[in-house]
Amino acid sequence: MPSSARPGRPVRALWENGLLILDANDRSIALAAEMLKAGRLVAIPTETVYGLAADASNLDAVSRVFAAKGRPASHPLIVHLPATAELAEWASHVPDAATRLAGAFWPGPLTMLLPRHASVLHAVTGGLDTVGLRVPAHPATQRLLQLFGGGLAAPSANRFGRVSPTTAAAVESELGEAVDVVIDGGQCKIGVESTIVAFIHGEVAIVRPGGISAEAITRILGDPPRIVADGSMRAPGTLASHYAPATPLVLCEPGEVARRAASLAATGARVGTLSLERTCAPGVAIAWGAGGDIATFARHLYSWLRQADAEALDALVVARPPEEGIGFAVADRLRRAAQR
Ligand code: TXA
Ligand code: MG
Repeated sequence: MPSSARPGRPVRALWENGLLILDANDRSIALAAEMLKAGRLVAIPTETVYGLAADASNLDAVSRVFAAKGRPASHPLIVHLPATAELAEWASHVPDAATRLAGAFWPGPLTMLLPRHASVLHAVTGGLDTVGLRVPAHPATQRLLQLFGGGLAAPSANRFGRVSPTTAAAVESELGEAVDVVIDGGQCKIGVESTIVAFIHGEVAIVRPGGISAEAITRILGDPPRIVADGSMRAPGTLASHYAPATPLVLCEPGEVARRAASLAATGARVGTLSLERTCAPGVAIAWGAGGDIATFARHLYSWLRQADAEALDALVVARPPEEGIGFAVADRLRRAAQR
């Protein structure tokens, strides 16, 4: 462990497996900004999930993001901006609805797909003519973006197809040596990814449900957005199987969880349950619940899926959440996590 890890020093550094985990303080954020300018990769906390960030204008750095994740080059990256004012440098046209959504939800868990500015690297957009843009709200990453002074291309900091990390420790277990530094900004507050919105022939469409609900978008625009999260757009988060733990998931109605879990446990399987209200059943090894609160469920969802793998469960029986507000995004992730 380096000397900077001594208590009382502003940088708490944990050096493990060639990966440096830094507390989110001014000194480490300044170091991270310099590393990014030098083309290195830094895992960053956001209010949704941790991202694996690279200078969006540096082709080598962007290529290393794809390599670190094992992600196909055809799947584009979201560019994170310090402020809405930077939009004009990244998008060639900003529809009126996008301006209104940015005003309402940025900084925050909303990504907008807009026509790319000619200067945006093709590697970032996967060859598409749109670019995904978002201004994240986490204070450490806000500060980092301001110091960095440009756009950071950052997909979720997990290996392709796997569960997104919501803690620094989860980034470490996903990417290990493939990332140089992690800024530890604590547990992500929202816990599922940003809502992705597209503007198609004057219509607003949600292509990935997330931290901003369809209801909230309707309140700003007056009309409900179209929902296109059916895999018809080229986006890895919208593949049928994604966000997948190794543990098989059994999705059922809340009233069915106890019976399904007990009957699986009776066969000798090591079984867990996951529901809005904790559900205990005979023979169940572990029962997770969110005290009836869907925001709490969303916040912990990915940690629970990781723990299910760590506990080597044979099956996790999961209650379908109510599909309103953030529950819509949670249900979407659970459906994809259950696909094999
Ligand atoms: O909350 C989030 O959005 C997190 C944090 C780190 O910001 N990021 C994230 O990135 O989830 P990623 O790459 O794991 O998922 C972004 C999704 C992918 O499915 C990608 O294909 C899609 O957005 N995407 C990005 N740019 C796109 C574009 N121009 N057209 C269509 N889909 C796009
Ligand atoms: Mg992802």
